[in-house]
Amino acid sequence: MIEGLRAEGPVVVVDAGNLFAGKAVIRAEERDQQVAKARLLAQAYALAGVDAMLPGAGDLALGLPTVRELATAHTLPYVAANLECGGERPFPAYLHFERGGQSFTVVGVMGNSQKEPTCHVTEPAAAVRAALEAAPADVVIVLSGQKLQEDEALAAAFPSVSLVVNGQERQQLEQPRALANGGLLLSAGSRGKQLGVMAFTLTPGATVWRDGQVLARLAEQRDSYRTRVAELKKRQADATDDASRARLGKQVSFFDGKLVDLEASLKAAADESGPAHRATNRLVDLGAELADHPATATLVAAAKALIEAAEPVVTESAIAAGPFAGSSACTGCHADQAKQWGGTAHASAWATLVKTNNERDRACFSCHVTGALHPDGPKDPGAVAGLESVGCEACHGPGKAHVANPPTVEMIAKPAAELCAGCHDGKQDGGRFDPASYLPQVVH
Ligand code: HEC
Ligand code: HEC
Ligand code: HEC
Ligand code: HEC
Repeated sequence: MIEGLRAEGPVVVVDAGNLFAGKAVIRAEERDQQVAKARLLAQAYALAGVDAMLPGAGDLALGLPTVRELATAHTLPYVAANLECGGERPFPAYLHFERGGQSFTVVGVMGNSQKEPTCHVTEPAAAVRAALEAAPADVVIVLSGQKLQEDEALAAAFPSVSLVVNGQERQQLEQPRALANGGLLLSAGSRGKQLGVMAFTLTPGATVWRDGQVLARLAEQRDSYRTRVAELKKRQADATDDASRARLGKQVSFFDGKLVDLEASLKAAADESGPAHRATNRLVDLGAELADHPATATLVAAAKALIEAAEPVVTESAIAAGPFAGSSACTGCHADQAKQWGGTAHASAWATLVKTNNERDRACFSCHVTGALHPDGPKDPGAVAGLESVGCEACHGPGKAHVANPPTVEMIAKPAAELCAGCHDGKQDGGRFDPASYLPQVVH
């Protein structure tokens, strides 16, 4: 386990799926690398000790035989109650275990997005019912590959479901959402960059779960509104004209109204009668600030070496046969633009991959080189010579013809924000893209 996350009570580790890939179908040319990475992840999970995991649509994208082979080789504890392949269930419906004097049942529920041709998903409620009848427990966890609304509808039928963990939706729910059955819903998000750590205490006789941070969150909000009202009142008192006083007065009544609502919510939350189990969830960033686990780091280095060895190191550059010229062909005539570009992160996007040994990684190269998103650009990481990093033609379009005859062949003069979104896709970039602040940094 990760240093600093030592828990007091029993620890249960689950994964709600899409570990091996983020999408249900992977392209043929990506497959070898995806399998190599899946093997790495399976080895790492075996080392970490996972209690239960769902085979999501992005896992089955590798094909059932590969997923089964990895599951067997690395004893991956898959659960999938409503997955049928070739007339049988490839994985157990649920796992049941005792830990720290409490019993746990973890059930897997697949959604409709899986595309493995030999498999289909069956009705989830019947599958969950059968599992819960066979293995009742103090804590029932459903790992879900469904949509969030489907999770909400499913849980409503099962009072004993404590927690639903969704691994399918991009939307991340750090703060648990209350379910109609008294349980809680969490959503893991999509990039594997964080670990959700939920601490809980069971209360004897309780049937309802509550977010233990609700009171603290509401109280924090109330305090911030109170400060706001005090500030506004002071400004109102200091105002020198009637119009300002009236405007500030309106704002004061607005926040006073909010305060009344908040006090009511706080009181309702504090008064909630009957015993309840308490849970608090937080996300821990698995970034550079956490030291690498040495044994896992060794596995990662070995897998990267394998990927590197399997890729053709250098093939003919896409420049030779295609419409691209490479940024170095532009600098002579557009020195000012080239100088500005040279100072941006785009100019060192390839170096970023080299630093972590990811330059042969097919999952990275498309956005960290020039032209890979274009039909006639480089199609594999071995063909990028002269097109490394996000060069001029990533934004202005292919330029070979323009270089040969500048006045007659026009380039894209003002790249639009939609073009940026090809790479700043809201997912891989951490959702940071904001045209208003990003565009000014690249114009020259
Ligand atoms: C031999 C000199 C030369 C080279 C090499 C050259 N350009 Fe140009 N470029 C020009 C001239 C001349 C213009 C037209 C300027 C004008 O109309 O004011 C131009 C215009 C442009 C424009 C403005 C839009 C347009 O078409 O008028 C862009 C963008 C541009 N070039 C990008 C590039 C890129 C990218 C490369 C490298 C692939 C490149 N240029 C290589 C000479 C060159
Ligand atoms: C071909 C893919 C691609 C396109 C197209 C692209 N970018 Fe980028 N952009 C990147 C990559 C990759 C990085 C990160 C480079 C690195 O740090 O290694 C980046 C980084 C940036 C950064 C620096 C962010 C930071 O805080 O460090 C800005 C700003 C930016 N891009 C703006 C834009 C704008 C605006 C557009 C459209 C006009 C655009 N980009 C088009 C791939 C692209
Ligand atoms: C869909 C396009 C895309 C793909 C694929 C992609 N990146 Fe990026 N990457 C970006 C963009 C855009 C940024 C700039 C994000 C920003 O700062 O706004 C970026 C930034 C980065 C950064 C700078 C730090 C950070 O996290 O923002 C690193 C490191 C990085 N990418 C590594 C990788 C690696 C390794 C892969 C392959 C596993 C990869 N990228 C695949 C688009 C992509
Ligand atoms: C991340 C995207 C991006 C990259 C990479 C990029 N540019 Fe641009 N470039 C722009 C944008 C956006 C504009 C339009 C600025 C504006 O609105 O006036 C522009 C404008 C230009 C113009 C026209 C300037 C004018 O005054 O009309 C030229 C020429 C040009 N770029 C050349 C280059 C060259 C050469 C490179 C590579 C060394 C390069 N650009 C790389 C986004 C980019």
